[in-house]
Amino acid sequence: MKLITTSKSIKLMMVSMSLLLVFIFASIWFGFYNVSAKDKHFALTTHLLELVRTRSIDARTNDIKVPNLTDPEQIKSGAKNYSEMCTTCHLAPGMDMTEINQGLYPRPPVFSNKDYKNSPAAQFWVIKNGLKMTGMPAWTPPHTDEQVWEMVAFINKSKDLSPNQYQKLIEQSENTHNEDGHGH
Ligand code: HEC
Repeated sequence: MKLITTSKSIKLMMVSMSLLLVFIFASIWFGFYNVSAKDKHFALTTHLLELVRTRSIDARTNDIKVPNLTDPEQIKSGAKNYSEMCTTCHLAPGMDMTEINQGLYPRPPVFSNKDYKNSPAAQFWVIKNGLKMTGMPAWTPPHTDEQVWEMVAFINKSKDLSPNQYQKLIEQSENTHNEDGHGH
């Protein structure tokens, strides 16, 4: 008697699993899921995706040794690379919203916002490796780890910079680069 009940429930489980699979494949095939960047995730999906991102990055940043990030020269070089490669998405002090910053989903964080916060190791890892399905590219190669740390140093400083101070920093970095012939 007990055996029969068990085999019945196994059958029932297999039937419902097959139905679920058919439903999933049909949903994909008939295009039920909207891939538009304007169609926001459910709150639960967002939480899950953020959890996956955080846990994945945490698991890969344990061994990263964060160097000193306060050297003004380092911040200056970081500012230069940042201004050339990152501002269309992540903006900078005094910069207005861009079409790309507005249209991307997920939205790229604005590092000069007072409420932005993340650990330097996580920032380093993301700049180096990029993030799948977000629009955030991987920047090494061609950039070196040292250049990535320079940008980490800069983005954590950018909150304290007024638009004027930011402009000055970029001008200074351009002058240094031209004087010593390392301009690009
Ligand atoms: C094409 C747009 C784009 C460009 C260009 C870009 N990023 Fe990103 N970035 C993103 C997006 C989108 C995310 C992911 C946001 C999310 O996961 O919520 C991201 C994430 C990040 C993060 C992790 C954010 C966090 O939560 O702390 C860092 C750090 C970062 N970018 C730095 C940079 C730097 C430095 C550059 C330039 C070298 C750069 N990005 C260029 C779009 C961009």
